[in-house]
Amino acid sequence: MESMATMQPKQPFLTDIQEIRRRARQHIERGAVIENYQGDVETAVRVLNEALATELVCVLRYKRHQFMASGLNSESVAAEFAEHAAEEQGHADRIAERITQLGGAPNFNPEGLAMRSHSEYVEGGSLVEMIQEDLVAERIAIESYSEMIRYFGHNDPTSRRLMEEILANEEEHAEDMRTLIEHLGAKG
Ligand SMILES: [Fe+2]
Ligand SMILES: [Fe+2]
Repeated sequence: MESMATMQPKQPFLTDIQEIRRRARQHIERGAVIENYQGDVETAVRVLNEALATELVCVLRYKRHQFMASGLNSESVAAEFAEHAAEEQGHADRIAERITQLGGAPNFNPEGLAMRSHSEYVEGGSLVEMIQEDLVAERIAIESYSEMIRYFGHNDPTSRRLMEEILANEEEHAEDMRTLIEHLGAKG
């Protein structure tokens, strides 16, 4: 068993404040990407662009479902879809902002959007089918965002926190869809 003294890291936990100030003044054109950014910026931008595509596909799918549910006289379900579409758009904006902070470019190109996205665009016929497809998409987002969070880990805490906040919201979305299916089943 090692003694506490030998477990002390060689480097002090906090870098000399003068050194931090000096580094901050250097390369100011890099913006938020500081010199000791622990992650691989290129991979971070690629991963975040996949999350962006996932969100954009979710916006499109929920918008489609919103208007189709309206046509089926299911106004309350349509309102739920509309709310989710707006929240997915908010996620997309926050992810795009983080990409630019990292010095990358957010990819909004419709060409290849469905390929970059982890979730799928499935129209669904009946109201229940639409809700089921949304639940599947949320479950895909939950799984892939969890993986992204593990990837960012301690190397990029800001991207990790952003994805953690979005993940919590996707979990609420999944729960909303599960509850809707339950209610529709109860109504017969
Ligand atoms: Fe989202
Ligand atoms: Fe969602």
